[in-house]
Amino acid sequence: MFADRILSGMRPTGQLHLGHYHGVLKNWIRLQHEYPCLFFVADWHALTTHYDTPEVIEGSVWDMLVDWLAAGVDPSQATVFVQSKVPEHAELHLLLSMITPLGWLERVPTYKDQQQKLTEKDLSTYGFLGYPLLQSADILIYRATHVPVGEDQVPHIEFTREIARRFNHIYGKEHGFEEKAQAAVKKLGSKKAKLYAELRSRFQEQGDVDALEAAKSLLEEQQNLSVGDTERLYGYLEGTGKMILSEPQAMLTAASRMPGLDGHKMSKSYGNTISLREDPKVVEKKIRTMPTDPARVRRTDPGDPEKCPVWQFHLVYSDEATCEWVQKGCRSAGIGCLECKQPVIDAVLKEQEPMRERAQPYLDDPALLRNILADGCEKARKLAQETMREVREAMGLDYS
Ligand code: TRP
Ligand code: SF4
Repeated sequence: MFADRILSGMRPTGQLHLGHYHGVLKNWIRLQHEYPCLFFVADWHALTTHYDTPEVIEGSVWDMLVDWLAAGVDPSQATVFVQSKVPEHAELHLLLSMITPLGWLERVPTYKDQQQKLTEKDLSTYGFLGYPLLQSADILIYRATHVPVGEDQVPHIEFTREIARRFNHIYGKEHGFEEKAQAAVKKLGSKKAKLYAELRSRFQEQGDVDALEAAKSLLEEQQNLSVGDTERLYGYLEGTGKMILSEPQAMLTAASRMPGLDGHKMSKSYGNTISLREDPKVVEKKIRTMPTDPARVRRTDPGDPEKCPVWQFHLVYSDEATCEWVQKGCRSAGIGCLECKQPVIDAVLKEQEPMRERAQPYLDDPALLRNILADGCEKARKLAQETMREVREAMGLDYS
């Protein structure tokens, strides 16, 4: 429903590293040129697990924003904001909580998984149970159509779809819907009204899904309809009531091939990361001291790239010729490990150089960052407020 809009968020719980860059940010940067995008710092979500270390969150918010801009998120293309600066998310979260069955939340797989994983923390909190619902509010408040996320987040998107459906089912039945919908059809103008009516009956009478899609595109192009009429026309089309909240789709991000320095997944908790704007000397040192195939004790011992984390880096960073050079040289002991690592060091430094450059102005003048953020928050808030007007009205909270 409505035009395409992409939304995604990240929790500020530490410095970003190359795993985030290859796994998430590169994708965002590509998407920002193709769709209207909203990217936000989910500071409230971070508090659900880090409630006793708020200082971690506070520092990470700024670092993370600089990292995003350094990586190439472009605030003239995408709207960048912080969740807690748009308090409407909390209002929607509260209102949605009224219709959210406890069992739905308890059944979200991340709930029990995380509780079992993070045993050092008491996560039997109200806030943590509500994590997926807060995420639903984040998404639904912008009527996002696509949410780029990793596999682990798919259940949260599914949950969001169910909440949207339940909301529309309960609150979409406004008084006089049929008449209001028909009045809205007339506002399309006679030609488009006729087309809409034709497509609608082809879908409703013959189940023609192409007709449904065509009618949706027709509605997407309409610029002069009010939000309320748009919701009515989408709902009328599908035979439901008003469609106040629209169901988003997960846009699955392919798992990144970027491993950590030890060959396991790159993650802060494993201490095997290269941070996004790491000092070049540190980058060099970290890669030079990476473990290699343990069989290569002496320079003259042949090795097997498949048993070496450096090879995983070559797969991300090196061209075919270099990869071939590694394969041959390693297996024949023709090259040494430090020699083998040099192209990786060069490639990582080359990748990071523009990032460090892009970050510098924001480090020199934090006001730049604050302005970008203020701008983004204002834009986001406008969209959020539009949805909230509809939600309050539908729930009988419009006392004007
Ligand atoms: N839960 C997400 C994560 O841990 C972060 C997040 C919060 C999010 N709200 C969101 C992602 C809304 C997408 C859309 O990665
Ligand atoms: Fe790893 Fe390269 Fe050494 Fe082979 S030569 S063990 S691939 S670092």
